Amino acid sequence: MIEYFNKRLSVLKVNKIYLKLIKIYLRFFGEKNLGDIGFDFSQKPSRIKILNKIIFSQKYSKYLEIGTFKDELFSKIICEKKIGVDPFSGGTHRMTSDEFFKINQEKFDCIFIDGLHHYSQVIKDINNSIKILNDNGVVLIHDCLPNNLMEQQVPRMTLNWNGDVWKAFVECRTKPNLDCYTCYADWGIGVIFKRQNSNILNIDEKNFKKLKFNFFFHNYKKLMNIIEFEDLFKKF
Ligand SMILES: C[S@@+](CC[C@H](N)C(=O)[O-])C[C@H]1O[C@@H](n2cnc3c(N)ncnc32)[C@H](O)[C@@H]1O
Repeated sequence: MIEYFNKRLSVLKVNKIYLKLIKIYLRFFGEKNLGDIGFDFSQKPSRIKILNKIIFSQKYSKYLEIGTFKDELFSKIICEKKIGVDPFSGGTHRMTSDEFFKINQEKFDCIFIDGLHHYSQVIKDINNSIKILNDNGVVLIHDCLPNNLMEQQVPRMTLNWNGDVWKAFVECRTKPNLDCYTCYADWGIGVIFKRQNSNILNIDEKNFKKLKFNFFFHNYKKLMNIIEFEDLFKKF
């Protein structure tokens, strides 16, 4: 028993040191912490309400969720066929998204990407999802609007964590064949349609992983093409 508590304590100590080291690194070599942008999702509809409204209104019958965790969303989705992929918990398929996309033969109407929140993984998940999306379908990406530097930091440092998902979404906004919006709700839900881009984004940096949070802080409205929940349904 004592050994168990000693082990837990040492893990905590290591984590504390690790967090301190990252903070010191960021202060000297990283970005300036500009504080909160001020996103407030408290009065906005939840992802559960948004997804079910999309699925119902569009008469979608096939739903895929990447990253299911405790099935908080997956169990509440009302759809004829549901597949959930997570290497650790929830859903229907115990594997990573990469493994799933390798073996999958099916197509889907609605795909919700909420797995590993690292740019490189998210962009792979988006590209793989587009390939298996039915023509009138939609790809949704959770956690597109981080409020501050720490919430977007990779590796993870905070309990509420968006990661740098936004960089993958910004990359999609530059593609002529993808029409992209961010719904201002539930930590930012990216919405991607497979059709001509109606508001293409031009930015100089082509290595999207290198984009800085500073840039997001000052340009998020233009970068993310933000719309309210009520207006989202006019885009279908
Ligand atoms: C934020 S949680 C998902 C929450 C869930 N979608 C919801 O709305 O309640 C992220 C999940 O992604 C999973 N995950 C991490 N890496 C993954 C990967 N490579 N492929 C699929 N899922 C992954 C984690 O195990 C974790 O359960």
